[in-house]
Amino acid sequence: MRRLFLGIDVSTTGAKALLIDEKGAVVASATTPLTVQTPKPLWSEQNPHEWWMGTWRSIRDVMAKAPASADEIAAVGLTGQMHGLVLLDSERRVLRPAILWNDQRTAAECDDIRSRMGGKAHLVEVTGNDALTGFTAPKILWVRKHEPEAYAKAALVLLPKDYVRLRLTDVAAMDKADGSGTLLFDLRARDWSKEVLDALEIPPAWMPETFEGPEITGRITKKAAEETGLREGTPVMAGGGDQAAGAVGAGAVRPGTVAVTLGTSGVVFAATESPLVEPQGRLHAFCHAAPGRWHFMGVTLAAAGSLQWYRDTLAPGVPFDTLVAEAAGVPAGSEGLLFTPYLSGERTPHPDPLARASFVGLTVRHRRAHLTRAVLEGVAFSMKDCFALLEGAGLPPVSQVRIAGGGAKSDLWRKIVSSVLNVEIATVNSTEGAAFGAALLAGVGFGAFPDVDAACEATIKVTGRDAPDADWTSIYDAEYGRYRGVYPALKPIFESL
Ligand code: XUL
Repeated sequence: MRRLFLGIDVSTTGAKALLIDEKGAVVASATTPLTVQTPKPLWSEQNPHEWWMGTWRSIRDVMAKAPASADEIAAVGLTGQMHGLVLLDSERRVLRPAILWNDQRTAAECDDIRSRMGGKAHLVEVTGNDALTGFTAPKILWVRKHEPEAYAKAALVLLPKDYVRLRLTDVAAMDKADGSGTLLFDLRARDWSKEVLDALEIPPAWMPETFEGPEITGRITKKAAEETGLREGTPVMAGGGDQAAGAVGAGAVRPGTVAVTLGTSGVVFAATESPLVEPQGRLHAFCHAAPGRWHFMGVTLAAAGSLQWYRDTLAPGVPFDTLVAEAAGVPAGSEGLLFTPYLSGERTPHPDPLARASFVGLTVRHRRAHLTRAVLEGVAFSMKDCFALLEGAGLPPVSQVRIAGGGAKSDLWRKIVSSVLNVEIATVNSTEGAAFGAALLAGVGFGAFPDVDAACEATIKVTGRDAPDADWTSIYDAEYGRYRGVYPALKPIFESL
């Protein structure tokens, strides 16, 4: 009988179910779209029940598409959007809509956390990270202050995919990669920090047990088997937050390989053998989904999201390919036009919810093609900001950069990124991202592969390479210097806006 592994990705936009075989070949995939609610400016919420409905639908769909029988599915791995707060009562009922990773309401709570921890430096020292509005801990403090009736009933804190895990297995559990994104982890200990929980007055009993990515956290219950069509008793592995699982899916599991993702957000991800920390907390430092490893991460909140906004707003209905083809006809550097991609505030290198996007240097000479190219280049400069921080934080030399995400399908954008970073970038055969990583983690936990490194080696291959263009690189070196000047120059204006 065939043995298949099921990866489930509870992302912001969809609940995806992906089936792979023992060699890592994709058998079928199904996604149920999800909706996001924005009840107030800066807020971003989702209904956890929608995640569950989306998940069981997608599981049923993928099994029908494959087609696959319940007995063939040997194990399940979970991944999903990180940092979202799911607050449950003692009966494990959801107390309020989940507050998502891209919600920006908690600036005051972030200040409160820094001061409760005796300052940012100590917070970064313990958790690896500064307090950012997107993380989970400030969201818990926000509920305590603004919704005391919900807070009074709280008994359990979960992250989005772990709510789905609860529905699948009846077990409250979390993986260590996602756990470290709550800001409540001791990064070195790879588990909850008593010091941080005490300082923030969050009861340790609310936090679930945490597991390494390939470990079994529970098994499909009879009820979940009836709802999803899976076999009762199928093991469910911890998996990982979407960035760590995505890195497994791209083979970025060992120091030396850095993954760049041009998705809605842009991510630079570097695995480390030890819990390295950027002393000012300008890079995220989290546990990896590969057991016993950690990683650095830089996040540009609006990467392909910038291009999407730009198209929808300034060139509605024009296909991306048309816009990018126009941009290819403009010289590198967009004839003196710069774009900063801070459309949603920013995380790296400026952890500032008040940062704003800008086009700087417009003249009557500039056409739509220049604006498009400036957007592509501005996002690449923001990725370069992340690389500069990685170098400064003591990352071992980079031997390979792998690029993934929707934006990486563009030949021009890959060449711009390669030239801005002045490194060769590789593309890989695996294009299913975090869901693929979660399925591989399930395979490792089941014993189909000896460990995560072996699973990646067996299944992920380099399919293409893009080299920097020397002429572009010298232009971009100069442009990058100017780009670096834009944020500090405009910061007072952003603040007053
Ligand atoms: C990672 C992060 C996003 C979300 C969205 O820190 O905030 O990648 O996980 O999926």
